[in-house]
Amino acid sequence: MSAHDGTYRTEDDARAALVASCLRMNAIGINQGRAGNQSLRWNRGAADGMLITPSALAYEEMLVDDIVWLALAATRDAGGEPAYEHSSRAPSSEWRVHRDIYLHRPDAAAIVHAHSPHASALACTARVQRHGIPAFHYMVAIAGGADLRCAPYATFGTQQLSTNALAALDARRACLLANHGLLALGESLVQALGVALEVETLARMYALALALGDPVVLGDDEMARVLARFSPYV
Ligand code: 13P
Repeated sequence: MSAHDGTYRTEDDARAALVASCLRMNAIGINQGRAGNQSLRWNRGAADGMLITPSALAYEEMLVDDIVWLALAATRDAGGEPAYEHSSRAPSSEWRVHRDIYLHRPDAAAIVHAHSPHASALACTARVQRHGIPAFHYMVAIAGGADLRCAPYATFGTQQLSTNALAALDARRACLLANHGLLALGESLVQALGVALEVETLARMYALALALGDPVVLGDDEMARVLARFSPYV
């Protein structure tokens, strides 16, 4: 087990938490249908790995046994299909995104990918693809810095999307994905889902502010002050 998953006594407990978190993701309105995916860092003995949602399965139908375990090392060089247990379903098409975040971000113990309406809509605009969401509201600090970046577009399920997302997440715990949705990570599923909800809320506010006028952007000095006192809110 990793340092972050001590809240789950068994792998089945962790799988159940993942199923519950996916149902909650749709229930709180930040995702719909079979879109999106989630994962949890979960090591088996000496093998670093993750538990990840299966591809294209409705969350209401998802059972604990449908969750897929993937070894991070075993999948590192795979250009095609990842190595997963044959008894299980195919892992999310975005397994490369999840794997690469766990490999490069020791602070990540859980990842949420959602097609939330406002974040996805903004990520379809040239303005946000170019500049991200600036510090129009101090809560932009939820992403870990003075802006919320948007990763350039790449086809879903590709290594290029993972590479783009990892760069956009540098020193951040969330980003938008152009013409696609959002990614949020955390030290737990609850935290990652909380960050995803805040990002969607910020996106809704920013869309409203853009419609009302020219949003005033907070300066770097002010955002540094905000970030210095922000940690209790993550
Ligand atoms: P999966 O069902 O394969 O996870 O794909 C959903 C998705 O959102 C792809 O980005």
